[in-house]
Amino acid sequence: MFDPVEKLKEFVRHPSISADPSAKEGMKGAREFVAGLLTSIGFSTEIVPTALHPIILAHRGGKPEWPHVIIYGHYDVQPADPLNLWQTPPFEPQIRGHRIYGRGTADNKGPLMTHIAAVARLLERRPDLPLRITFMIEGEEETGSPSFLPFIEKHKDRLQADFVYLSDTGIPRPDQVVITCGLRGLTLFDVVVTGSKMDLHSGLHGGVLRNPIQALAELCASLHTPDGRVNVPGFYDDVLEVEPWERAELAKLGQSEEQYREFLGIPAFHAHKGYTPFEATRFLPTLEFNGIGGGYQGEGTKTVIPSKAFVKISCRLVPNQNPEKIRDLLYKTIRERMPKDVTFELVDQHQGIPYVVVPPDRSNTPKDQSPVLARAFRAADASITEVFGKQPLYLREGGSVPIIADIKRVLGLDSVLFGLFLPEDNLHAPNESFDLNVMEKGIRASEKILESVAKG
Ligand code: BES
Ligand code: MN
Repeated sequence: MFDPVEKLKEFVRHPSISADPSAKEGMKGAREFVAGLLTSIGFSTEIVPTALHPIILAHRGGKPEWPHVIIYGHYDVQPADPLNLWQTPPFEPQIRGHRIYGRGTADNKGPLMTHIAAVARLLERRPDLPLRITFMIEGEEETGSPSFLPFIEKHKDRLQADFVYLSDTGIPRPDQVVITCGLRGLTLFDVVVTGSKMDLHSGLHGGVLRNPIQALAELCASLHTPDGRVNVPGFYDDVLEVEPWERAELAKLGQSEEQYREFLGIPAFHAHKGYTPFEATRFLPTLEFNGIGGGYQGEGTKTVIPSKAFVKISCRLVPNQNPEKIRDLLYKTIRERMPKDVTFELVDQHQGIPYVVVPPDRSNTPKDQSPVLARAFRAADASITEVFGKQPLYLREGGSVPIIADIKRVLGLDSVLFGLFLPEDNLHAPNESFDLNVMEKGIRASEKILESVAKG
C-alpha cells in the first residue's frame, strides 16, 4: 500500500535546491527518487536531459481515444537559508501535530506527492482505467524554468493531451479550496551602479563624488508614489478593469483585513487606493525591491565609499501587460532618472514570464473549451465540494508559475490549478510545512477528479 507521508519524507530528504550549483547531488537524488516512485506504480519513466536540470517524463499509455492528462510538478526547492531560524533542519523532515516540516514540503513536494498518491490508489483500484496519464516534473521552477520552453518545443509531439493538471497554488483555509484561474506574470532585472573605479577611503575622498548607494537609493525612492502606485509613466496603461464576477468571487473569501495585517505583522497596509489588500495582490501589478547591497555589511563600521551598489527588482504583472514592454518602460525611466555622475548597468534576469488566465472565465465561458477540459473543471468542482465540504472558489493568485503560459502558447493546453498550500505553510521561508489533513483530502479529491475525467 502506497504511504504518501513516508514517501514525502523520503522526497524531502533530498536537498534539491535548483539555484545552488553545489546542490547537484540533492537534485539528482530527488529526481531519481521521483522517477523510481513513478516506475514502481506502473509508469514508463524517462529522465530527459536539458541544458541544466533534467525533466522527468513518466507515461501511462492506452488507447488513443482515451483522454490524456499531463500532471505537472517541480522537484526543485528554494534555498533553505537563513538556516538558524529553522526549528528542525530543513532536509530532515519532521511531523509535529498534523503538519510535516521541511524545505519543499508545501512548494512543491507535498502537492506533487498528493497527485502521485491519487494516481497510485486509483490505478490499484482500477487497473484498467481508460485514462492516459503523463507526469512532467521539472527541476528549475524556482529559478524561472529556463529549460522548459525548449523542452516542450522539442517534445511537442509527445505532449499532445487534453489538459494539464497541477497543484502549485494556494488556498486561504484548510476547508476552502481554490481553483486558481489566473496568475501574475513577472519581469526581473538588476540595476548595478558604479561610482569610483575602486573602493575609497571616505576621509580622503568623501565630499567629491556621489556615492553609488546614494544614487541607487534616490532612484529606488523615485519608483513609487506616496500613495502606493508605481511611479513609472505608462506602467498601468494596459491594465484591464476587473470584471464584477471576480470581485464578487473574491468577496466570498470572507477574510478579515485585520487578521491579515496581524499575520503579516505590519502596523498598517500600504496599498494602491481603491483596492482591498486581497484585491491588490491579485488584480494589480507591482514593483518590488527583492534585494539591495553595496559597501560594508559586516560588524562595526568601515569608513568606505564603495565602488558599486546593486538592487534586484521584480515586477508582478497582470492580464494584458507584456513583460518585455514593461521592462523597456522601466529601463527608459531608470536611464532618465539615474544621476549622470555615476555609471550603471541594467542586467536582465529572465526573458519575462507572461500573466496567465485560465478558464473557467465565468463571465465569458470560452466556447472552444474541449469537452474533456470542461469535464475536468466540473469534476474538480464536484469532487472538491464532496471531500472538503465546501465548493471551491475561482480566484486569481498573485504568484507565478513560469511554465503555464508557455504550455498554453506552445501546446495549446489549458491548466486546471488545484490550490493546496496554506498561508501558514511558510513557502520560501524558514519552517516551511504542509498540512497532512489537506494532503489526505487532496488525495481523495484528486482520485475522484481523475476517475471522472476517465469516465467520459
Ligand atoms: N508555487 C509558487 C507559485 C505561487 C506562489 C503561486 C504563491 C501562487 C501563490 C512557485 O513555486 C513560485 O514560487 N514561483 C516563483 C516564480 C519565480 C521564481 C520565477 C514566484 O512566483 O516567485
Ligand atoms: Mn512552486
